[in-house]
Amino acid sequence: MTSTTLEENIAAAEEEFPHAAALVRRIQEAGPLIAGPLRWLLAERAERFWPQATHLAELSRLMDGSPVDSLTEYTVMYLKEQMHFDKTGRYSNDDFDEVRRNVYDNPDVMRSYYLEGLMLTHAFWPIHLDIHTFFSTQFVPRIPNAGEGLEVGFGHGLYLLEILTERPAAVTHSFDISPFSCEYATRLLRAGGLSEDRFTLSISDVRDSLPVDSGSQRWAVFAEVLEHIPNPKEALKELARVLIPGAPLFATTVLFSNAIDHITQFESSDQVRQMLNEAGFQVEEERVLAVADYVERAKDPTVDLAYVATRRKD
Ligand SMILES: C[S@@+](CC[C@H](N)C(=O)[O-])C[C@H]1O[C@@H](n2cnc3c(N)ncnc32)[C@H](O)[C@@H]1O
Repeated sequence: MTSTTLEENIAAAEEEFPHAAALVRRIQEAGPLIAGPLRWLLAERAERFWPQATHLAELSRLMDGSPVDSLTEYTVMYLKEQMHFDKTGRYSNDDFDEVRRNVYDNPDVMRSYYLEGLMLTHAFWPIHLDIHTFFSTQFVPRIPNAGEGLEVGFGHGLYLLEILTERPAAVTHSFDISPFSCEYATRLLRAGGLSEDRFTLSISDVRDSLPVDSGSQRWAVFAEVLEHIPNPKEALKELARVLIPGAPLFATTVLFSNAIDHITQFESSDQVRQMLNEAGFQVEEERVLAVADYVERAKDPTVDLAYVATRRKD
């Protein structure tokens, strides 16, 4: 596909999605890094991409963000770490406390690019857009419009915003280990128009027990956290403890995908499915999304995994 076609695709969407189109142009002008995925998105996922990019561009604007810089920096970080993985076959880190100091407790990472950059990948990285679509179409419809649910490791808070918008009678008390995630997600939920009485976001470490009653939660989200912690099965058991039997869980993780804060390597989707099962969940839907299925002759071995599961009743 030529760059003229990319330009034609942007021009075709400009009238309906002017803010997203302006952001796409700025990203394209910033360099070739995200222009390749952009071509693919505009050709293959236009219907999903443009509304999602519009939503995220608007949130970024309301929060006075720097979307081009943060998305670029987040993407560069990922590519650098993946080069390390390519050479060594290992993730860069294995010490949670060191990662906590360098990343989750570090404003130069979290505030400056990590949270906004990761949020924007939910439109601008093809696999993340597809995972978000899976969340919206397969998980959100299972959430009741009443009572309390939670996300652990909410980061930017985008999943919470969607749940609480789609289910106006639902509330949440959710947790993240990073004070900067709590700060950013609180701003995001406000920017998204949610009233303060619908959410409380607090610091808590899922490696310990959560300050939540057993069997009290109607849904849970645990996305992109399993690979960040040394004891993923124990954390899943903790989520199973707080969920009402039969309640839905949305979980994601990765195979062969390094980042500044990944410490646990999974080897196969079978391994992750078995871990979910042993922690008390029944997998209802699974998506296995390999970079190799999106990019011709891809060298990147990354595979993303996404699950909708239910808390088993036994
Ligand atoms: C990669 S982000 C995921 C954000 C969002 N859930 C998503 O899927 O885009 C990981 C988040 O998990 C949080 N986190 C990491 N370890 C944690 C722990 N032990 N307990 C609670 N939160 C943790 C980090 O602070 C960060 O906000």
